[in-house]
Amino acid sequence: MKPSARISLSRPTRRPANCHFSSGPTRKRPGWSPDVLSDACLGRSHRAKPGKAKLQYSLDLMRQLLRLPDDYLIGIVPASDTGAVEMAMWSLLGARGVDMLVWDAFGKSWATDAAKQLKLDDLRIFDAPYGQLPDFGQLEDDRDVVLTWNGTSAGVRVRHDHWINSGREGLIIADATSAAFAMPMPIDKLDVVTFSWQKSLGGEAAHGVLVLSPKAVQRLESYTPPWPIPKIFQLAKDNKLIAGIFTGATINTPSMLCVEDAIDALEWAQSVGGLDGLIARTDANFTVIDNWMKGHNDLAYLAQDRSAISPTSITLTITADWFTASPPEEQAKLAKDLTALLEEEGVALDIDAYRDAPPGLRIWGGPTVEAEDLAALTNWIDWGLHTIHMRATAQ
Ligand SMILES: Cc1ncc(COP(=O)(O)O)c(C=O)c1O
Repeated sequence: MKPSARISLSRPTRRPANCHFSSGPTRKRPGWSPDVLSDACLGRSHRAKPGKAKLQYSLDLMRQLLRLPDDYLIGIVPASDTGAVEMAMWSLLGARGVDMLVWDAFGKSWATDAAKQLKLDDLRIFDAPYGQLPDFGQLEDDRDVVLTWNGTSAGVRVRHDHWINSGREGLIIADATSAAFAMPMPIDKLDVVTFSWQKSLGGEAAHGVLVLSPKAVQRLESYTPPWPIPKIFQLAKDNKLIAGIFTGATINTPSMLCVEDAIDALEWAQSVGGLDGLIARTDANFTVIDNWMKGHNDLAYLAQDRSAISPTSITLTITADWFTASPPEEQAKLAKDLTALLEEEGVALDIDAYRDAPPGLRIWGGPTVEAEDLAALTNWIDWGLHTIHMRATAQ
């Protein structure tokens, strides 16, 4: 079989200086070492002055970096991004009809929550297969919407906000964990934005971050959901927002090591030009991949619409004839063989496609990644594809 013209047959000599390309937790910021944690407020109460000051400082940095409107709230909550999303869903949904937009595994799990856990009566689920977005034209302004801004497992993101009408009455709840700090987002048009530090910032998980608009706060103070809400998810008490959550008085005990690490990441983010700098780094990373992908014979973006290609969780399918001609179970094995080979060579860790996504590759291109590492990686992927193909035909 004729190898693709694009495939380099010889083993590349240059390795990525850092082979961490996981889509979460992502690689630490350039220059990170455990020493950055030395000033962590450990071994004492997080509610004492120094602990609270650290928590508040991290909130101030995030607010500034994300350019939050002054009347938006931001707080640190338990259980990483999942905690933040579920807390919002449990506390806010049920007051109106709800539309769930689904195009990746995480959006799907929020829709399952809405249907099977919250058992919402008036629920519509608009889902699209991997690689596509559902039709946003079906949304209605008087209904709440839950969506994943960047589908990490699909490599498909929302690019446009023209579907958000100014008089919209329903809330928009956006899981933005792999979008925040890496791509432009109309946060001032969204009511709930969630993320965790373990994506674009290369921070630690364990804690989520919840951003609330005034409209979301109004809902919290005027509506009590019919279901029980565990203490860990409670944002309001007796129809009053628990305001302390948004000034560093966390619901339960946070890890001050994680907070210190987040502060380090946020200060690094400031040092590279703030939000614009982070987006520019992500765009530069994506450009490396995109130039390589132009005319590539053996790989394609899973995202079918170019404007929806995620620049963070860059998701590729293998389109080489020898691959697509294989039965599905063989394709899954070949894709695994490829990522195992790249790991064995020490050039790429954790770039398998998400477990229920079509077999292929998922490469993190967020701001903590260096463009030259991605450039080096592309040669290894071409070599890897060629090697896997040769091995398969030799059998
Ligand atoms: C879109 C999306 N939502 C939620 C999650 C879950 O995040 P966490 O493990 O931080 O709770 C992930 C993790 O990859 C994700 O990509």
